Order: sequence, then structure tokens, then C-alpha cells
Amino acid sequence: MAAIPALPAISAERLPGLLRRMPKAELHIHIEGSLEPELIFAMAQRNGVAIPYASVEQLRRAYAFSNLQSFLDIYYAGASVLITEQDFFDMAWAYLERAKADHVVHAEIFFDPQTHTARGVAMETVINGLHRACEQARTQLGVSASLILCFLRHLSEDEAFQTLEQALPLRDKFIGVGLDSSEVGHPPEKFARVFARCGELGLHRVAHAGEEGPPEYIWSALDVLKVERIDHGVQSAKDPQLMRRLAQERVPLTVCPLSNLKLCVFPRLADHNIRQLLDAGLAVTVNSDDPAYFGGYLNDNFLQTFEATGLTAQHAWQLANNSFEASFVGAERKRRWRDQLDEVFAG
Ligand code: HPA
Ligand code: ZN
Repeated sequence: MAAIPALPAISAERLPGLLRRMPKAELHIHIEGSLEPELIFAMAQRNGVAIPYASVEQLRRAYAFSNLQSFLDIYYAGASVLITEQDFFDMAWAYLERAKADHVVHAEIFFDPQTHTARGVAMETVINGLHRACEQARTQLGVSASLILCFLRHLSEDEAFQTLEQALPLRDKFIGVGLDSSEVGHPPEKFARVFARCGELGLHRVAHAGEEGPPEYIWSALDVLKVERIDHGVQSAKDPQLMRRLAQERVPLTVCPLSNLKLCVFPRLADHNIRQLLDAGLAVTVNSDDPAYFGGYLNDNFLQTFEATGLTAQHAWQLANNSFEASFVGAERKRRWRDQLDEVFAG
């Protein structure tokens, strides 16, 4: 674990400003979950796609979820307005501009190609639009961004293999693969062969595990899928042996506090176990998951979580540094971001 530098005394009043201004990486953001209702309506109109809501306000009012599946049903309906390469660009660009405002210096962005290819949208349309936004963010915003292709776990492994085949001609435009969608009943083992193939191809591997599903899914994501990070992972607190392993191996967890609140994983933000995970030595990071649906982008997640749980400036530094450590970039860039982080804390 990176040694925490001796931080100057930081008063409670200064903490929100530091949380906003500190450089940070976002490692768990579904780009389709950044599609704001206004953009859904604009794209529906320009593409002639019917949506079963009369107004932006009515759509927003439907964002009251009881669990993961109740959210996924609306999330996939929202994504149905995405048709052209420009749509995918516009969605990703809107997110990247928002990320820049939150002092995000680097983002590793999930996308769900099967949601689009099932509707007849070509894989190139999806990947080229998203990739162009990532390139433009680097040159115009100074934000680096890369793409992680997620397989939908409610579909079959054969369909995941077909998706991988379709994406391989664009292999240089994504850095890894992930696993998302309905967790319970779809254990990581279901995707053992396709993840093994992705490993042979040199792709990074991550998976959602322990969001709603049991600690066993975290064990099998690590041991069967050989993932480098666990997305969510908050259910690991139910398994002391797993907690010890995650701490010892510094396996990053991409925790999404406002998502967990909105999907009723914890009844109140004050009940979130992020402090327990951090204090047990796990490599926790904070992320927004699906910010257009869960009521906040990355800084909202930091600010509301710190306010509700009483995390300290030490935790803030640790969370930002963990986000750099857990990212899929080289050591030199990690060191530069850490220097920038130390400067903000020293100032
Ligand atoms: N969990 C699983 N699948 C998802 C999520 C999530 O939080 N967001 C978008 N797809
Ligand atoms: Zn997610």
C-alpha cells in the first residue's frame, strides 16, 4: 500500500473543497448510464424512436428503484434511442466534459455493446463513436479515457463470444472486458471460457461481483475469471476470510455509494460500509456507476458519502490515490497524478 504522506491539519470546512478539487480517476462508469433525460429526449426526436414517457420530468420521476433489476429495465429502455455514431460520441462527450468539471484526470469507461447490436446497431458505430470522444477528451480537455467492453451476464456465454468476435477488429480501441447486468443467478463461472480467451488476447479483465450477489461471486471472479479489479464488491464485508485476501492482495474495489443507495443495497448512505472496507486496508475507490440515474456524478458521490459517513481528509487522499493505483496505466503517469494530488493537499 502506498504510504499516506503526513497531511497538514485539514479543517472540516476545507474538506468539501479538497474533495472537489483533488485529481481523481473514475474506474466504474457505464457510459449508457450517463445519458441524461434531456439527451434521451433529443435523440429520440432526431432518430424517430418512440419512448413511453411524455416529458423529461415524467421520465425522471420513473427513476425510483427498489433493486438492480428495476433500474436495469429503465436503463436498457433509455439506451434504445442511441442509433448513430454521433449519438455515441455525444453521450460520451457529455460525460467527459462533466468529468473534467469534477477534476477527473482519467476515466476507464464501460460500454454494453450487446444492448445496441441486439437492436441492429453495428459494433463499429458504437465503438468508433465512443472512441472518438475519448480521443477528443485527451486533446481538448486534458482528460485521458479508455474503454472497457462489458458482457451482459443475463445473456449466454456463446453470445459473449460472438460479441468478442465482432469487437476484435476494433481491438486497439478498448483495453479490457467487464461483466455487468443482472447479477444474482448469473455467477462469474458462466463466463469462464470467454474470460480465459480475453486473457490470452491480453485484455484487462474486471467484473461486477458482490453488488447484490454473495461473497462466493467475488471469490469466483478472482479465481475463475482472474479479474484485476472487482466492481462494487461491497458484500465482501460478509466474509472475513475474503476481506483478509482482498486487503492482502490489494485487489481494487470500485465502490459506487450513490448507486448502492438508489438500488437499496444500503438503506441510508450513513449505513454504507465504505469506511469499514477502507479501514480494513482494502483498495477502495469511489465511482458514480450510472450518474444520470443515481442522482450524482463523481464529486457528488464523494461529497455526499463523506458528509454521511464522516470520512476524513486521510481517507480522501487514500481514495484518490487508490483510483490512480487501480487504473490500467503505467507507473510514470500514476506517479505524476500522485504528485498533483499531494500538491492539492499541501496547498
Ligand atoms: N450493476 C450491474 N449492471 C449494471 C450496473 C450495475 O450497477 N449499471 C449498469 N449496468
Ligand atoms: Zn456498474
